[in-house]
Amino acid sequence: MAGPDSVAGLTGTLRDGGYLADRGLATALFIGISLHRPVLLEGEVGVGKTEVAKVLAAAYGRRLIRLQCYEGIDPGQALYEWDYARQMLHIRALSERQLADSAAVDQLFGPKFLIERPLLDAVRAGDSAVLLIDEVDRADDEFEAFLLEVLSDFQITIPEIGTIRAPSPPLVILTSNRTRELHDALKRRCLYHWIGYPPADREVEIVLVREPGVAQALARKVVEAVGRLRELDLAKPPGVAETIDWVRALRFLGADDLDPALADDTLGAVLKERDDLDLARENLTEITSGAR
Ligand SMILES: Nc1ncnc2c1ncn2[C@@H]1O[C@H](COP(=O)(O)OP(=O)(O)OP(=O)(O)O)[C@@H](O)[C@H]1O
Ligand SMILES: [Mg+2]
Repeated sequence: MAGPDSVAGLTGTLRDGGYLADRGLATALFIGISLHRPVLLEGEVGVGKTEVAKVLAAAYGRRLIRLQCYEGIDPGQALYEWDYARQMLHIRALSERQLADSAAVDQLFGPKFLIERPLLDAVRAGDSAVLLIDEVDRADDEFEAFLLEVLSDFQITIPEIGTIRAPSPPLVILTSNRTRELHDALKRRCLYHWIGYPPADREVEIVLVREPGVAQALARKVVEAVGRLRELDLAKPPGVAETIDWVRALRFLGADDLDPALADDTLGAVLKERDDLDLARENLTEITSGAR
């Protein structure tokens, strides 16, 4: 499977796909792909953790297989399940005599009745896929332990069918918002990279890549305003996604600059908490005052 031949090559390919990775991130991904190591991306909200997996898959022609984690997710939802409803229908269609025949019953636990979930899908796909295990911090401890097992040997045993092994493991990207600490055992298996807020110049670049045609001056003004918002004591500081949304909203209104009145009108594109809005509104002049 085609992969990058250098960190610079990977950075360029991601950029062509609309994603700007800094050196640290590109290096972690390059090593992860080359040495078949999972990459764990932790960071603030909306800083491009999920997006990088999507862009990477598209850029290298790999299929993106996404396992979205949530509270209460269990191995059945991640690995495979038997299609109970189809099995029941099949049984009803069998005659008494057929039911006595063990081969017919064995068939009920064959590939036809197996529902593949993302992890099984990824094991079968091997390195033609990127497996994104998104927001792993939302799953509970037991699920994390189970994931660790799958990630350590990339093979899955289905008692009725046998063992399925990845021909060559997929690139695995895990993301976490750090709503809880992940276990050392899982972290040790992975290459770790923290994605923080980008420096202002890079964030302007990201805006220009994502909103082509936007005036550089507006992009800069918004990035600076968002930077100031991040310095306030907000419950939900805005991520890069919000910066882009704000620029988009302003552009849609035909604005080419950001003043306090316009910021007031459009603040809902960046802040989504009432207390945060109140705090920002008390500081609008400073927030929109330009260069820091
Ligand atoms: N480095 C970057 N290059 C290009 N676009 C970026 C970058 N960082 C963030 N973005 C933009 O920000 C948006 C949000 O990113 P994404 O959803 O990946 O964030 P996240 O870190 O997964 O957030 P969450 O924690 O909310 O899941 C993307 O759709 C993309 O437009
Ligand atoms: Mg995400």
